Amino acid sequence: MRGYAVGCLALGLLVYGGAAHAADKLCKLEISGNDLLQYDKAELKVAADCTKVELTLKHTGQLPAQTMGHTWVLTKTADVQGVLDAGAAAGIAHSYEPPGDKRMIAATKLVGGGQVTSVTFSTVGLQKGGDYTYFCTFPGHAALMRGKFIFG
Ligand code: CO
Repeated sequence: MRGYAVGCLALGLLVYGGAAHAADKLCKLEISGNDLLQYDKAELKVAADCTKVELTLKHTGQLPAQTMGHTWVLTKTADVQGVLDAGAAAGIAHSYEPPGDKRMIAATKLVGGGQVTSVTFSTVGLQKGGDYTYFCTFPGHAALMRGKFIFG
């Protein structure tokens, strides 16, 4: 009887694990930045059934990260300025992103011309129709390099 009970428990865990896995949905987004302080997209949309998002940032310019670096950081719109200020203080060694700052829902590293980077993040905790903004944390860039992130 004991073996039977253990078997049932193991089966139960397998079924549960399978169901949880099937519910995951990874959605992919791409955006690029150039040498003119521009992203190529003014907004990005993610369907509400996406549980994870993989965002790829490509720097299509030629200038180095020290002079024309780009990042892609996602926050609530209300948190943009606070994260920019803290990121500027953190400096280029931290990609102008405040280390461990929970206001950042997602953040890529800083890239220069010709480089590509990506970040994968969970949508758990995002609100459908919430007010979210993505932006570049390189000092001064977010005035132009920002866009609307739509979830739902
Ligand atoms: Co930039």
